[in-house]
Amino acid sequence: STILVLNGPNLGRLGTREPEVYGSETLADIEASLAASVPDGVSIDLRQTDDEAELIAWIHHAVDERVPVVLNPAAFTHYSYALRDAAAQLRQAGVPLVEVHLSNPHTRETFRHTSVISGVATGVIAGFGSDSYRLAVDWILRHA
Ligand code: DQA
Repeated sequence: STILVLNGPNLGRLGTREPEVYGSETLADIEASLAASVPDGVSIDLRQTDDEAELIAWIHHAVDERVPVVLNPAAFTHYSYALRDAAAQLRQAGVPLVEVHLSNPHTRETFRHTSVISGVATGVIAGFGSDSYRLAVDWILRHA
């Protein structure tokens, strides 16, 4: 089985982007540690895009193929109703969606306190750095 780990805009810059907020690991580091942490027979399909349309297309695919999703929507979290509507289709189909954030957005600027995604997510994990992804994958492995 596969777990899709989708990442929105600017997350391709992890490692050098505000390391005091997001840590010094790159997305490739996170992918490698996730892949090493899952049992044989499970694969981690980690993707990143700065393009809202591409992210939505990946979610449509996950709905159709019933693939559980870990999603860090990055800044889209706070304003993309289009991404929320795509994510709502996962909920409708009963496909797990775990929203993750490296930082805890609630400790940061006011515009980060709102997530338009959380209302259609199965659950949310935020503030644990790259461990947020690990915790999300662990839950999917246990429940999905
Ligand atoms: C983020 C938090 C968002 O507010 C921000 O726009 C990001 C990353 C996080 O992982 O902490 O790009 O989703």
